[in-house]
Amino acid sequence: MRKFLSIVLAIVVFSTLVFSAGTIKIGVDFPMTGVVAAFGQMSWDGLKLAHEMYPTVLGKQIELVLMDNKSDKTEAANVASRLIEKEHVKAIIGCICSSNTLAAGPIAERAHVPMVSSASTNPLVTQGKKYVFRVCFTDPFQGKAAALFAYKQLGVKKVAVILEVSQDYSIGLANFFKKTFKKLGGKITGTYFYVTGDVDFTAQLNAALATHPDALYVPGYYPEISLMARQARQMGFKGYILCGDGAEAPELIKIGGKAVEGLYYTTHFDPKMAASEMTDKFVKAYTEKYHKNTDALGALAFDAYLLLRDAIQRAGSDDPQKIRDALENTKGFKGATGIITIHHGDPTKSAVIKKVENGKFVYAGFVNP
Ligand code: PHE
Repeated sequence: MRKFLSIVLAIVVFSTLVFSAGTIKIGVDFPMTGVVAAFGQMSWDGLKLAHEMYPTVLGKQIELVLMDNKSDKTEAANVASRLIEKEHVKAIIGCICSSNTLAAGPIAERAHVPMVSSASTNPLVTQGKKYVFRVCFTDPFQGKAAALFAYKQLGVKKVAVILEVSQDYSIGLANFFKKTFKKLGGKITGTYFYVTGDVDFTAQLNAALATHPDALYVPGYYPEISLMARQARQMGFKGYILCGDGAEAPELIKIGGKAVEGLYYTTHFDPKMAASEMTDKFVKAYTEKYHKNTDALGALAFDAYLLLRDAIQRAGSDDPQKIRDALENTKGFKGATGIITIHHGDPTKSAVIKKVENGKFVYAGFVNP
């Protein structure tokens, strides 16, 4: 009888332990399908790797709940609501495109659930918010870095800007670039517009090329950049094509081919950064798992996960409010993409300049804040 009782007791104790151990749910709001699906795939690869390497926190298993925002603003907000209300996640990682994070952020804010964006660079993403953070630099810096590089390193003096009118990222980055470029003494010869899904850019290019720019600055996403580059080259444009972080996806080269050779863009990561011991750890584990080169989105998502996990650890709790407070107090966190200290939701980090060369993205320098 005593033996029986102690077995029963052992079972009760064990199941209570298992039950209370439970899991900590973290939601993921990424564009897995739709126009920028490549962004979601690259980010998810980095996130899965981080989760595989560090699957637990506070003695509990971390459970990632991935939902596809279909590269769409409304869907991005719906996903945030579903993650919070139906899945009861303790925090959210996402989104990628700034416009989507601007739509989803207020939902997290209202529900008091912390959100960490891996890649959204528009300044408004975190501005005036208590629950939204990011691990990437912001566009005032990215635009300035691009302008400095174009003017000083490439000797570009005249630039035509072609931007996407419905993406906050594109509009913001174009403005920040122009501001520094003009301050340096450069000339903006004109600004032209397109929307996502456009495939014919001859009207914009005709007008832009008639102003004889040394370079085109296209702060958009890879699907339109690759097509626009092809058409610009077909029309005989020989100058530089400069872009922001939204250029980086294997599809840029697959679709752009020879037309994107020599294209320069600002971004977040290169193994050469050696930002911390985590850079090498990430590069080694990533190339072993995926047998391909690392990319900015994978590295940023890797860092978003680890930063959030670190905050949960420091909070000593999975209470969303406590996680938020710990996120706000992040200091000197050693990520793969840089050392992160959060100030008003944002870190301060270096930008990498990359170039397309022989069908590959290669390192071409970096700009410090
Ligand atoms: N910075 C882009 C945005 O805010 C997203 C992005 C980051 C895309 C890095 C590709 C690589 O919309």
